[in-house]
Formats: sequence, structure tokens, C-alpha cells
Amino acid sequence: MATEQILIIDFGSQFTQLIARRVRELNVYCEIHPYNNLPSISPDVKGVILSGSPCSVRDSDAPNVHLAAFRHKLPLLGVCYGAQLLAQSSGGEVQPSSIREYGRARLGTVDTASELMKGFDQHSQVWMSHGDTITQIPDHFDVIASTETVRVAAFQVRGEQTYGIQFHPEVTHSLQGKQLLHNFVVDICGCSQNWTADSFVDTTVADLKAKLGDDKVVLGLSGGVDSSVAAMLIHRAIGPNLYCIFVDNGLLRKDEFQSVLDSYKTLGLNVKGVDAQEQFYSALTGLTDPEAKRKAIGKTFIDVFDQESHRIEDVSWLGQGTIYPDVIESVSVKGPSATIKSHHNVGGLPDFMKLKVVEPLNTLFKDEVRAVGRSMGLPEFILGRHPFPGPGLAIRILGDITPEKVAILQEVDALFINGLKREGLYDQVWQAGAMLLPIQSVGVMGDERTYERVVALRAVTSVDGMTADWAHLPYSFLADISNEIINKVKGVNRVVYDISSKPPATIEWE
Ligand code: XMP
Repeated sequence: MATEQILIIDFGSQFTQLIARRVRELNVYCEIHPYNNLPSISPDVKGVILSGSPCSVRDSDAPNVHLAAFRHKLPLLGVCYGAQLLAQSSGGEVQPSSIREYGRARLGTVDTASELMKGFDQHSQVWMSHGDTITQIPDHFDVIASTETVRVAAFQVRGEQTYGIQFHPEVTHSLQGKQLLHNFVVDICGCSQNWTADSFVDTTVADLKAKLGDDKVVLGLSGGVDSSVAAMLIHRAIGPNLYCIFVDNGLLRKDEFQSVLDSYKTLGLNVKGVDAQEQFYSALTGLTDPEAKRKAIGKTFIDVFDQESHRIEDVSWLGQGTIYPDVIESVSVKGPSATIKSHHNVGGLPDFMKLKVVEPLNTLFKDEVRAVGRSMGLPEFILGRHPFPGPGLAIRILGDITPEKVAILQEVDALFINGLKREGLYDQVWQAGAMLLPIQSVGVMGDERTYERVVALRAVTSVDGMTADWAHLPYSFLADISNEIINKVKGVNRVVYDISSKPPATIEWE
């Protein structure tokens, strides 16, 4: 089904995804495509944004696109590098900035008669971040905004809907950045702002119906938001022809398997819970190296899933909860970034991977997935839950895994997480959990000397898990939780709190 959209051409700026998010906050759909791998332009594209870049347009191998394909045909907005590219390719001049043009700046003059700058205050604060600057623009370009030091802060090409800005409207420090994007996307491109969670559900379900027909789909649920929302969309389209598999690997949180399974059933999903605890524990026996543990878990999961999907007759599709950042990452200007931990380890190619793949969320950012889940009635306890790693508690038990250690850690983790919820702290942290350390320490309980396990509590604040800060939980809370854990969990006599940030530490200990 047609959805009007803005095309964002990525030249590699760190801010490109932010542009996309701001456009979507205006309820306008947009897609990011790398400059060196552009799709053919569909009639649904209503305008084009050229992103910034770490490169300089003066470099001989500067990233470029065939601008004539868009100019005069579609409204065009160049941001930073994009603006410099527009200026230079029309005969303007771009030079290294003589002074530092980084950080907050104030516009001095603004031409509010220009549709792009409509509604702007004369001294609006903007955010600059560029090493080059446009020193000269061609005769048919008009300056529509300047700062004290940057004469061509924004320009418009006469007789065209082509604009360039050297500041970044997508960054919140540009206080009227949202206004500018609204002016471009809504007023200049004419987008109708009807892309909402509800409209996404309607369009996607209709598309899925058309695509899948009477075919069967198998999908692995993890208990997380992405796979749950993907399943709900596919279920709404094809009902019982969606076969969900939820595996108990013995490494989940306390009581999690049953409670999540129950809520999936309440949602009407056709879901099979598979108790594979023994299989995972036996694959993990004697393994202490984190990567070896991850590989064993990944392989066992594939074996279990393969086995289960073979039980479904004539299945032809594999449903997945892949989201947009994974897609952008895999086709980015720079190519996929190097992974530090083997998050997606799969060996060989099992039968289910030969199925056709359906990924209904592969155009959405995480918060948009949540909005879609909410609009479809996914329970809050699944929507708002912290991220949890695929290998589960196995990478929070340092050293080898035994069912006894899992049971201890499940108790500690449950007390910590329930405490956070009770005190209203759960939603203030991005992720929290407990680690079981491979050491014992001396303690004293009553008159007795103890020699028992140490656990570390970890809670972090973050936006996307790429960087994180340790959460400054109240001392009184930490004191209470520490007491509660030591009193209630047999075998633990010491609790420590992890105060390391990422980088240089990581969130998980393994
Ligand atoms: P790190 O420890 O790398 O974690 O700072 C960043 C985020 O990734 C999660 N994580 C994993 N998720 N499989 C996963 O599915 C893994 O092997 C894995 N290792 C880490 C971690 O929980 C955090 O949210």
C-alpha cells in the first residue's frame, strides 16, 4: 500500500538517524538510504533530504549523488554537507572554516518570508557542527539566514524548492529545528502527517495479508518487545497460520517463562512453549569462556527451533522482529560496524533459515515498535520491560553454568527487579540485573563465620545501550536491597554495586 514518504540520502553523518526520527515525529514516514546504494525513486517520495557527512566536499573522492535526478523534480533540503554539496555543485565555493563553527550559535538575520524559515525568531538558537563553510553562493541562490560568523547559514535556490542549511535542525539544541523540518516536510513537500501507529498497523496488516495469503509462518518469540509486536502484526493478518515458538532455555528470569507464555496465550497467539532447559544445560556443561557459552546457546537454540519448525507442515515463511536500526546498520555508508561480542552467532544453515523471511518491523525504530505494540494492546509489562540478553543469565553467571547457580541468581535478580519496581525506580533505569561472581567471601551471620557467594548488582541509564552510565540509585534503596538479598537468598553473603560506565566497561560482565 502506498505511503507518502521523505527520502533521506545518507552521506555518513552521525546525525542521520536523528533526522529520520524527527521527520517521523511529525507523523511523516521516511527512509534512510546510503548515497552509494539508492533505490529507484517511487512516486510516493514527496521530498529529499541530503544528510551531513564526516567528509569534505573538497575531497577528490567526496561522496556524491546525481543531483539532477531530484532538482526541479522534488523539494530538496541539504543539511550541512548536503548544503555544501548543493552550493558547490552549482558553482558556489566551499572552504575550510577560518574559525571554529561547532556548538550553539544564534541566527542574526532570518528571512521569514522564505517558506523554509517561516515562524523563525530573528535570533533563534541553532546547532552548528562543520569544518567547512560555504563562502560563496551562485547568483541564483538567496541567503535566507545568517549568524554573526556564518553568512550562508541557510540558502534557497530561486525558482526551485531547493534549500540548504549549515546548521542541524535534528539536534534539540537547534531550538526551532522541529519548526524548520515541519516547514519543509509539511508545507514545502506537502506531506499529510497521517503516518501514525494505528495507520502503520492498518497498512502493515493489509500488506501482510496480500503477501502471505494462506501461507504458514513460524516465529520464535523471545519475550521481548520486538518479537512480540512482530507476532501480533502477523497474527492479525493470518491468524492461526502463524505458529509461534517460545523456548525455555533455563536461563530466563524467575517465573518468566510461564508468565510470558500465559500472556501470549491471552493475546490469542498460537504459541508453543518448549521446555529445553536440559538441552541447554547439557550444552553448557564445563564451559567457562563467555564466547563459548554464547556459541553453545546459539547453536542449541537453532537445534531446538529447527526441530520444532519441522513439526509444522508446509511452513514457508520465517517471521522475525528485526527493527530499522539493524537494517540501516547492515547497509550503512560505512558497512556493518565491527561487533565486539558475537551477539548473532549462527553456525551452518539450518532448514528453517532457508525459509522466506517476513520482517514487519524492519522500518521502525524501537520507540515506534513500542507505540505500535501499545496501539495493538500488548501488555505494559512486556512493552516497558528492560532489554534482556539472548543468552540470558548465562552471561551473568561468571564461569560455568549449573542449575543451582541459575536458581540463586534468579532469586537475587527477582528481589532486585521487584525492589526497583516497588520503589518506582524501574522505569528510570534502562537496564538492570545481577551478576553471580565466581568467588566466595568471608562473612559473619549470628555467631557463625560464613564463606559464601558474592553478587554484583548492575543498573544503567542509556539511550540505546551503545554507551551507558551506572545508575545513581539511592543509597537507602541499595542498603535495603542488599539486606534483603543476604537475608533471603541462601548461599549469598555479600552484595556489591557496579559503578562502571560504558565505555570502558560493558553493561554485561561477560
Ligand atoms: P554490552 O554488555 O555489550 O551490552 O554493553 C549491550 C546490550 O546488549 C545486550 N547483550 C546481548 N544481547 N545477546 C543479546 O541478545 C548477547 O550475546 C548480548 N550481550 C549483551 C546487553 O544486555 C545490553 O542490553
